Amino acid sequence: MNSNKRILVTGGAGYIGSHLVQLLCDQGYQVFVFDNFSLGLRENIDPRSEVIKGDILNTVDLEKAFAKNIDAVFHFAAWKAVGESMIDPGKYAVNNIYGTINLLNAMLKNGVNNFIFSSSAAVYGSPQYLPIDEKHPVNPENYYGYTKLAIEENLKWYSKLTDIKYAALRYFNATGYDINGKIKGKEKNPANLSPIVMETAAGIRDKMQVYGNDYKTADGTCIRDYIHVNDLASAHVLAMKYIIEKEENLLVNLGTGIGHSVLEVIGKAEEVTGKIISYDITERRPGDPPELVASCDLAKKLLNWEAQYSDLETIFKTMSDVYMKSVNSPPKSPSL
Ligand code: WQD
Repeated sequence: MNSNKRILVTGGAGYIGSHLVQLLCDQGYQVFVFDNFSLGLRENIDPRSEVIKGDILNTVDLEKAFAKNIDAVFHFAAWKAVGESMIDPGKYAVNNIYGTINLLNAMLKNGVNNFIFSSSAAVYGSPQYLPIDEKHPVNPENYYGYTKLAIEENLKWYSKLTDIKYAALRYFNATGYDINGKIKGKEKNPANLSPIVMETAAGIRDKMQVYGNDYKTADGTCIRDYIHVNDLASAHVLAMKYIIEKEENLLVNLGTGIGHSVLEVIGKAEEVTGKIISYDITERRPGDPPELVASCDLAKKLLNWEAQYSDLETIFKTMSDVYMKSVNSPPKSPSL
């Protein structure tokens, strides 16, 4: 495919978006980062890309972006804190649903037809069987997951009724940092396990909480499928090529097919950083299924994609490069 294509990345200053922007620039694409910088970090944007400060809720901002003769849109601009979505659903409805519809309508207006959407394993809810394949029933148990499903449903209609082709990528637990060490800005106010583990290792937090150790799993803590952000980025580029070349929509899981428990994650982070990570075992977090693991056969079959960097060792080595750089203190003594 002609890599002179002009690509718009909404949320391109965010965690996953910034990793994709770097890969697209490496591959010679012309990249336009569209971000309102509410959480995105300028320092994480590849200097080879062009930045357009704007909001997906603002049609004038979107017109500025589409004046760049865009060929394909990757859409990452969304709120993603599951807990917050249950307390403030309106915030999530406006940005994740209405904002995305706004973006799709701007694409239609400007004759842009290729859309790659950040969906989530949260569309499945509690698993009825494992590993979870794409045929698994969808039944989101939090409002965040519902917003992703609502857009998937809209995408089906938009692609039936218009020329839009889409890829919906259902991520499992995104983690890790750039394997080339180029992306160094830490996520602001992280709510996910691995950045919290690393903040604790780095002494930014004194201790962390493990939400429950009485699940029916080997060590009693929840099991998740952790996928390195560079692996996610490579799947995105393949997904774009797929929908453009095949002129077909795509819906796939992105994970590894391998689960790790919370204690396993903490143990590996301690081993890689050489720090003791103090934690308390607390109550279960409402809505946490004991185990979530993806079947990734479809992504392998359709995209010839498989995770390369998603072993816990690589995940925490790449995170250490970001989180432990400024930490020179000796290892903490274990808390009793
Ligand atoms: C992982 C495990 C927690 C924090 C959510 C979304 C999912 C996705 C990723 C994207 C769980 C435990 C966590 C802590 C802990 N998507 N944990 N202490 O809930 O699996 O998935 O984020 O946009 O769609 O649902 O991820 O990182 O919050 O938790 O013990 O301080 O770590 O209970 O078992 P989760 P997570």
